[in-house]
Amino acid sequence: MAESAYPDLDGFLTGRVPEELRAILTGFAAASATLRDSLAMAPLLGLLGSTGETNVQNETTAKLDDVANSIFRDALQLPGVARLISEEEAEPVELGDGRYTVCFDPLDGSSNIGVASVGSVLGVYEGLPAAPADNAPATGRALVASAFTVYGLPSILVVATRDSVDGFAFNPEERSWRLAFPSIRLPEAQYTSINWTYRDRWPANVARGVEQASDGLRGRYSGSMVEDILRVLLAGGVFLYPEDSASPGGKLRMLYEICPIGFVMESAGGAASNGSGSVLDVPVTAPHQRGALVAGAASAVARYSEAYLAG
Ligand code: AHG
Ligand code: MN
Ligand code: MN
Repeated sequence: MAESAYPDLDGFLTGRVPEELRAILTGFAAASATLRDSLAMAPLLGLLGSTGETNVQNETTAKLDDVANSIFRDALQLPGVARLISEEEAEPVELGDGRYTVCFDPLDGSSNIGVASVGSVLGVYEGLPAAPADNAPATGRALVASAFTVYGLPSILVVATRDSVDGFAFNPEERSWRLAFPSIRLPEAQYTSINWTYRDRWPANVARGVEQASDGLRGRYSGSMVEDILRVLLAGGVFLYPEDSASPGGKLRMLYEICPIGFVMESAGGAASNGSGSVLDVPVTAPHQRGALVAGAASAVARYSEAYLAG
């Protein structure tokens, strides 16, 4: 089959990244394949709906948030991993000695469960002194790799290192992730992704920034960050989730949403800012710290930042 033209993830990573990092990335990919099965069967397995509980962020937990968290938590307890930080775990899970802090959003876009695409996000940090805290802040500059999955048809896994961003499509027959979108560079911007229904909540400088960044672009917003970010990578555009009066510090979380996506964007020739500077330079002092994210075409991000800083 012509498929041999499409290397699988493990072969692709061999020799490109250290062994332990390769195992983390392939572990994330394998866990994504497992979660994909649960998502595909969810309506027939009673897996839609909520658990009736709330997580540490005070958000209702979907049954599939729990399923996804177990899958990734189990798959990522690997050699070289010092701790896991998950959206669905109140505290970091300490594992012992290791170079890497592995952060993940097991299921991104929970409001789309059963009706549209959802995904998963991974950030692999090296050299953090300890779990993020006031006396030991982390930044996204400690990332050595990040990845995200979008569970659609096709299901796509994007893997970023400092040198390259590459997209893999899932082959369900052989259960492999194969390189289908090599060396992704951001195309010219076409689309703007933002929840416009919050416009009355935006401070004036955010509203002007959104207007400037979106100038000449067409709107697409899915409610799953990963899906909108995939569109930015493959079709071109900008994704914005700024602070607003309901979420004054922003809604998305730094360690397992904003920084991994910022790392993808900078590696693919784009930009990711909170309006004041790169999201990768923001000090993170708590595992579930939130922030603002404007990510995509460097020109659109620059237009946002200029208006944002002008006040
Ligand atoms: P999660 O499902 O992990 O909590 O993340 C949802 C995030 C993100 O995927 C999406 O872009 C955003 O929340 C949607 O929020 P709004 O419904 O406020 O637009
Ligand atoms: Mn999320
Ligand atoms: Mn989530």
